Parts: sequence; structure tokens; C-alpha cells
Amino acid sequence: MDFFLVITTLTVLVASILFDWWYFLKLRSKRLPPGPSPWPIVGAIPYLVRHGRGTTKLSHSLQPKYGKILTVWLGKTPMIFIHDPELTYDALVKQGAYFSNRVKNYTMGIVSSGWRTLGTTEGPWTVALRKNVMTHMLGPSRLKAFKPLRDRAYGDIVNDVRSVAAAAADGVAQVNLRSVAFNQVFRFVLVLTFGVELEENLIQEILLNLGERFRLAFKFYVGDYLSFWRIFELEKVFPDFNDSVLTSLCSELLNAAIHTTSFAIDHTMALLCEHPEVNEKLYREIEAVVGRRAVDESDLPDLPYLSAVVRESLRVWNTGLVSLPHATSELRKLGGYDIPTDAVIIFVLESFHLDPTHWSEPLIFKPERFLENDLDVLGTKSFSFLPFSAGRRVCPGTQLAMLEISVVVARLVQTFEWEKVPNVKNTRFGTVLRARPRSV
Ligand code: HEM
Repeated sequence: MDFFLVITTLTVLVASILFDWWYFLKLRSKRLPPGPSPWPIVGAIPYLVRHGRGTTKLSHSLQPKYGKILTVWLGKTPMIFIHDPELTYDALVKQGAYFSNRVKNYTMGIVSSGWRTLGTTEGPWTVALRKNVMTHMLGPSRLKAFKPLRDRAYGDIVNDVRSVAAAAADGVAQVNLRSVAFNQVFRFVLVLTFGVELEENLIQEILLNLGERFRLAFKFYVGDYLSFWRIFELEKVFPDFNDSVLTSLCSELLNAAIHTTSFAIDHTMALLCEHPEVNEKLYREIEAVVGRRAVDESDLPDLPYLSAVVRESLRVWNTGLVSLPHATSELRKLGGYDIPTDAVIIFVLESFHLDPTHWSEPLIFKPERFLENDLDVLGTKSFSFLPFSAGRRVCPGTQLAMLEISVVVARLVQTFEWEKVPNVKNTRFGTVLRARPRSV
């Protein structure tokens, strides 16, 4: 190798390490929340790579020792985890104007066409975008206008299961509900985002592209925390995305909607199979209020037990429900600690949902608790239940998600008797369930 090239490479390497070190020392001089002493330069990165553990799991294991607000260092960046509803209220509501920024990480920059989509850094662009999306796509009047499309999606989910049952020798469908719901919710949100129905081959192409974007958006990219990693391109992760902002925005909404909603439907039905007494009580409520006709969105206010089942399922959400990474727009104080602008802040929502000081027997699926204690999903009464987060970054799809999950679950319970398949291992890709059409 050319001598000059070696010297230049070494100089850049040493300069980037010194820069990271200076940056790290600058942040260490602040009064950050407690946490394990970081390894020089790399912080907890080797630990995460060696144990293959996510950062949220790591924060759960550290929480008994360091308390409900703690810091884990990733390279030069402090990642601050908040496990406490009161501190979350302080950050997202009282200091909401400062805690609503987002981190500018590299992979997110690519999938959002340079941080220009809804879920990225706060500024006049994202504020205007959010207002537009809420008015023209996800607000009450638009949701009303799109109701016929949702009705079709609800019917299609039921029909998909029914046709699998009809084709089975014993008349019982064995289905992966997550993929059934995923397909139909996807088709519905496609129309919502693109405004037209698309052809099948185009739909398949979009699905492939979406999968890649989803992987990238949540990728743990070491280059975000160690400068030299990125300078020397030590990891080839970036496909050539040259999409327009509009394509990135549609993809963001699609990805945000389909994984969460289909997971929630699948998870709720799996819980109902594990708790036949809850399933039976729900069926009786639907039968008494709606009778034989298919449940409609307009029936929801009259189905309190259904609402309790859906909220309880969101509470015991089992894939680690956290906020997207937040950031502050200026140095702030939280719980007496400094929160600098360079910190990545994660609100660990599932911690509040499973905290025994707020919930009796928190690991048990018990919808009745939501009848006794009518907490809504937006935290207006208490931050101990916050599945869609809160404040200026609250999930803009909350209303749509609640409608879809509630009606689909109601129709599935109304139309089929459900049970788990013995000896089949369920994965994060979905639960395999058996559905027997109810006799009418
Ligand atoms: C069960 C269903 C869903 C759950 C549990 C859920 C939960 C969340 C959570 C926790 C956040 C992070 C908020 C924060 O960082 O403080 C979020 C953000 C977001 N969600 Fe949802 N969501 C769901 C469905 C949907 C749907 C149906 C859509 C769209 C149609 C959607 C679109 C978004 C978008 C665009 C963001 C980013 C908002 C921003 O940064 O300003 N979500 N969601």
C-alpha cells in the first residue's frame, strides 16, 4: 500500500477517535442519569454485540440497580431510558415543547429522504406535515370518508379465514392470523396513502421495498455511535435509495401502520385463545348488543368489554413497547439530571404497563381491570397506560388503529370459535390458531 495512503488513513483514524473521545468527555462532564461505567470510546457496544441483546432489554436488566431513569453509553452517545410514568409526564407534557425532537441517526436519514418524513427531527417541515396528515388522512372527517374501504378490509379478513376453513378437510382453518391481518391492513393503508387501488405486481414490489426500509429504520448501525466506523465504511448496509420525499412518507406510514396493527390483532386473538372465559364473555356481549349482523364501527361505544379486551391486550403487549427515540432541542433537566441535546431518549412504555405499583398482578391478562378503572389509551387520566405514547409525538394513527383492532377482533370472535394449535411454536411472525366457523 502507498505510504502516503497509510499515513492519511492513520491520521483520519486517530483524529476521529480523538474527536469521539473529546465529545464523550464533554458529555460526561454533565450530571447525567446513573448507569454502568462505560468502556472507553466504545461504551456498551461490545456488550450488546457479544450478547446479541437489544438496548431496551439491557436497560430492563439495569433498572433495579440504577433506578427508573438511567444512562447506557453507546460509543460517544448517552442513551437515556425512562421507566417511570411521572418522569414521562414531565418530559412529554410539561416540557413537551423541548422533548419532542428526534435523533438524526444515519440509517433513518436514508429512509426518510434526509429527515423529511413525519417521524423525524422536529422543525417547521415536520410540524406542517403532521398537521396535513392529521387533517387530510388520519383526522376524524377523513376516517369517516374512508369507512367503506375499512369495511371491505374487515370483511376480507373474515372471508380469508372462512375460505381456509372451507378448503380444510375437517372444516377448521389453521391460520397465521398475523399474516392474514397484515395483508388486509396493508391493502387498506395503501389506498389511504396513495389514494388509489394498485395492481397486484406493484403491491408486491412495494412490500419488498417496505421490508428493506423497515429493516434499515430500526437497524443498530455502529457508525451512528463511532465516527471512524462510518468514515471507513466498515459496514455495507445502505442500498441506493433515491426516492422522493412523498415515497418515503408513504412508506413510513405504511410501515408504522401494518406491523403494529396486525401484531395487535394477532396478539389479542392469541390471548383470547389462552383465556376461553374472556373469549366467551366477549362473544356473549357481542351477541347481546349486535346479534347476528356483522359488528360495525358504530357499535363500538356499546361494547365496553370489547374495548377493555383491546386495551388490556395493548397493556400486555409482548414485544417490548417503547417510544421512538426522542431528543431534546436544548439542554433540559429531568428528575434532577441533565438531558443534553446529543442524548437519545427512550420512554420504555411497557415498564409502566407492567409495573406492580400501578397494576395488581400485572402479568395476568384481565380485561375487567379496564372496566373498574376506565383508563383511555391517550394517558388523559394516567400515564401508567400509554400504548401510543403522548404529547406532540403521540402516534397519529391512534384512532385508526383502535377502530381496526376492535372491529376485526369483534368480527373474528363473532364468526369463529378459536383455539391454539397444540405443539406449534409461535414466533414473532405470528401465532398459528385454529378457527372453526360458528354454526348459525
Ligand atoms: C397498535 C397499533 C399502534 C401502536 C401500538 C402504535 C404506537 C406508536 C408509538 C409508541 C409511537 C412513538 C411515539 C413517540 O415516539 O413518542 C408511534 C409513532 C408513530 N405512529 Fe403509531 N402505533 C400504532 C399504529 C399506527 C398506525 C395505524 C399508524 C398510521 C396510519 C401509525 C403511525 C405512526 C407514525 C407516523 C408515528 C411517528 C409520529 C411522529 O414521530 O410524530 N401508527 N406509534
